[in-house]
Amino acid sequence: MPPSILVTGGAGYVGSHTVATLLERDDNRYDIVVVDNLSNSYRSENEKKPEALRRIEDMTGSTIHFYANDIRDRAALNRIFENHEIECVIHFAALKAVGESVEKPLEYYQANITGTCTLLEVMREHGVTQLVYSSSCTVYGEPQKLPLDEGHPTGQGISSPYGRTKYFCEEIMKDLCASDQNWKVISLRYFNPVGAHGSGRIGEDPYGIPNNLMPFISQVAVGRLSELLVFGGDYPTADGSGVRDYIHVQDLADGHVRAIQLFQDPRFVGFQPINLGTGTGYSVLQMVAAFEAASGCKIPHRVVGRRAGDIATNYADVSLARQLLGWGASRTVIDMCRDTWKWQSENPNGYKN
Ligand SMILES: NC(=O)c1ccc[n+]([C@@H]2O[C@H](COP(=O)([O-])OP(=O)(O)OC[C@H]3O[C@@H](n4cnc5c(N)ncnc54)[C@H](O)[C@@H]3O)[C@@H](O)[C@H]2O)c1
Repeated sequence: MPPSILVTGGAGYVGSHTVATLLERDDNRYDIVVVDNLSNSYRSENEKKPEALRRIEDMTGSTIHFYANDIRDRAALNRIFENHEIECVIHFAALKAVGESVEKPLEYYQANITGTCTLLEVMREHGVTQLVYSSSCTVYGEPQKLPLDEGHPTGQGISSPYGRTKYFCEEIMKDLCASDQNWKVISLRYFNPVGAHGSGRIGEDPYGIPNNLMPFISQVAVGRLSELLVFGGDYPTADGSGVRDYIHVQDLADGHVRAIQLFQDPRFVGFQPINLGTGTGYSVLQMVAAFEAASGCKIPHRVVGRRAGDIATNYADVSLARQLLGWGASRTVIDMCRDTWKWQSENPNGYKN
């Protein structure tokens, strides 16, 4: 049996791009096994696999092993580990809507923390101790200084239960690594993933009204939404709108591949957080202008009040990623907008075409 990578939440946005990137590599030696409960990904009625994975199989000529299970289902996870020679896990599965997490904290703690603990326990039972974790720059809370580096304090002033689940999971993984030297955990702290696969065949397809900027802009562009609401026009930034470090999802996916390669280094042990961003911030209004330039579409937008919990500016210090992973983002804001537009214009209803 070839070695496998288990990808939890692999039918979702970042997960599907990472699966595609892994399978597109000439030197890929892994089978890909995905577990996803389809709570935020789409499978059409007559299909066994989610549409994103079906398309990746089509694009790469590879077979993806798919299990429609929840990561809290211990028996189902055990069966997956029994069926495959899992070498490492990339753990994307989580609920991720910041606003919803304020209204439903227990659901978020249950899915994200209990889910992660169950996964770690089953991994330990099967002697699998290498994990890449999807963390977030939200663990830094309100920035005390910019750019944010990995030494910045975490866990203070986090504004949502969602953000706290990411922080708590990191703490759990740190404790686990401290208790047993066999564990290798790389916690990738994403800044703001946007864009889509250059083919236009896979992309971000959120259920309901998007929480994030780029799917919102692109759904306005295709006429699914009438206008973009810009939350806050009075931040202390050049144009008053919030500034974020946007990173192309394909660059992010490459970062996961590099993280898995780091597991091969026998000197690497324990828990290691690493920022994945570009190191440059763009404002909401700059992103709107870039999208208009890349797509040729006008984006009607209106500046409204600030959204509770939002901060003015954040961007990453990415030197550690360069040093440890030999990784840096190569795609520009124009690439991000062009690829988002290709995906959305060719799939106006996302995967439900
Ligand atoms: N997209 C972002 O802006 C962003 C930023 C920082 C961190 N992250 C983290 O990256 C990861 C992936 O994010 P995404 O944008 O791809 O989200 P997504 O919702 O598109 O993907 C998550 C996938 O996990 C699945 N899932 C959710 N709960 C599950 C469970 N209990 N069991 C099995 N499957 C489950 C969903 O069906 C979905 O397919 C998440 O952990 C998220 O917190 C995302």
